[in-house]
Amino acid sequence: MRQQWVIGNWKLNPRFLDAKTLFETVQTQFGEKKTSCQVAIAPPAPYLGMFVEQVEQLSVVAQDVSTVSGFGAYTGEVSADLLQNMGVRSVIIGHSERRELFADDTPSLQQKIKQARQADLQVVYCVGESLSQREASQAESIVVGQLNDLKDVLTADDWQHLIIAYEPIWAIGTGKTASPEDAQQMHATIRQYLKEHTAYAEQLSLLYGGSVKPENAVQLAACQDVDGALVGGASLEANSFMAIVDAFSQYNV
Ligand code: 13P
Repeated sequence: MRQQWVIGNWKLNPRFLDAKTLFETVQTQFGEKKTSCQVAIAPPAPYLGMFVEQVEQLSVVAQDVSTVSGFGAYTGEVSADLLQNMGVRSVIIGHSERRELFADDTPSLQQKIKQARQADLQVVYCVGESLSQREASQAESIVVGQLNDLKDVLTADDWQHLIIAYEPIWAIGTGKTASPEDAQQMHATIRQYLKEHTAYAEQLSLLYGGSVKPENAVQLAACQDVDGALVGGASLEANSFMAIVDAFSQYNV
């Protein structure tokens, strides 16, 4: 039995009042559905506290976490312990935008993963190759390298608190989605990797991300090893986000 997940990654969007309205709308619409699909919103960090207080059936996910632990003189940082203390239970680590634009490299990512697990946060770990890497037939080796970074810091028990999101960089925000066949192939590679490193491989949810829309969600959801979606642009509109939730709700296998 694998849990289906649809997570809306709002990135640096939307403005405050729009965010409140969107969150309430998503929460109301989701509340009316009968689904065992898990639905989560990852809003900009300053909105987390407000949403955590309002949350009912949804869950709230942080988009990133500091490399430092605990509390103290770290101006501008948001630690895993602070997130845990305020009621946030999951965090995205390794999103390609953080890797590319904010210099998240292997040592800092590994530090973030360690901090998250020490604070008992679930980690949504993102992997994915660039277009040039795919064209050079390096997609699988890049993803396996990113999984190795993860493996090197997880304890045997940590694996069960993990979600992996495969987000090919060339599909993010571009309107180009991986074909269901390409997505399934990479997810099968990730599943195989997991089988070689943890006893929890069959139960871990593997999400696809990169221009997921209502129009392509049904086909992606039908893939055997695609257990949900990490949704950017389409999560900023309640109806399209809910249509994606509907697509994945049919496959809680
Ligand atoms: P888009 O759905 O806008 O392509 O973004 C995907 C993504 O980066 C989710 O984390």
